[in-house]
Amino acid sequence: MRQALEEIRTTAVAQISTAEEQALLEQLRVQYLGKKGELTAILKKMGGLSAEERPVVGALANEIRGQLEDAIQKRADELREVLLTRQLAEESLDVTLPGKRPAQGGLHPFGKVLGELEEIFLGMGFDSVTGPEIEYDKYNFEMLNMPKSHPSRDTQDTFYITENILLRTQTSPMQIRTMLQEKPPIRIICPGRVYRSDPADATHSPIFHQIEGLAVDKGITFTDLKGTLDLFIKQLYGPDTRTRFRPHHFAYTEPSAEMDMSCFKCGGKGCPLCKYEGWIEILGCGMVHPKVLENCDIDPEVYSGFAFGAGLERIAMMRYDIDDMRLLYENDLRFLRQF
Ligand code: DAH
Repeated sequence: MRQALEEIRTTAVAQISTAEEQALLEQLRVQYLGKKGELTAILKKMGGLSAEERPVVGALANEIRGQLEDAIQKRADELREVLLTRQLAEESLDVTLPGKRPAQGGLHPFGKVLGELEEIFLGMGFDSVTGPEIEYDKYNFEMLNMPKSHPSRDTQDTFYITENILLRTQTSPMQIRTMLQEKPPIRIICPGRVYRSDPADATHSPIFHQIEGLAVDKGITFTDLKGTLDLFIKQLYGPDTRTRFRPHHFAYTEPSAEMDMSCFKCGGKGCPLCKYEGWIEILGCGMVHPKVLENCDIDPEVYSGFAFGAGLERIAMMRYDIDDMRLLYENDLRFLRQF
């Protein structure tokens, strides 16, 4: 029996110390030390031994069990080490490979030009506010002196949600909203999306953008309007740019005007961009109509104000020399990356 135990010791130790895989080690453990293992099988036969032999064989069997357990543990540790080393070698990083650059976004030309506009007007003491695109007919038209029958509504046909709620055709309703909420002194600009049922072409789109301006205070005159808008254009297009004001009509201003600026391309000599006129129309403006002030509970005998509204597309197209408005909406990166 002792000999059988010694044989188990020798073969088992040899097998364990050369096992190449964790699974094989486990298999050997079951084979020798498991409940139905070889060592166990021998111990079960110990009943047939003499009283002197039994403790000696028992001690030997325990010694071998301990030895095999140690050997398995040791080999398992070795295997783990080997595995780790191999894994580290296989997964090593080549730090000299060029990295992957994440795509970097940029501002849309609208965002850029709007940033410039806001900077200019904030510098003159205006606040920038925003308002709803779904608007009451009352604010978009009626309180701006354009009752339901008014002919100038014809050029501002829009999308109606109900008879009295529509997609705003202009940012001018923000004049009403502001004056209903705050009392003078008021100085705001309001950029935002506006809607008209116009088919899209190089200079039209059913959705476009405007920027509105309003200043109401005691003693505001047409001179303030001219000075403010002239400075704005000079800051945006350069100090040599000139402006001129032509009489016009808007229902909510009196007097009303349109402002032109000298063509930034030819300096006023005449070129294809300005259609050989030397001037480019840039915005509508005027002194806030006394009735509009009254509609908002502001006394026109005490206060006066000026207002203006400009198309953001037009300003951006002029600023960046873009000849087709649709380019601004198509999100073509080849176009947008130029800004
Ligand atoms: N709302 C006008 C338009 O859409 C632009 C405009 C003209 C705004 C005169 C004004 C203004 O505030 O005083 O064409």
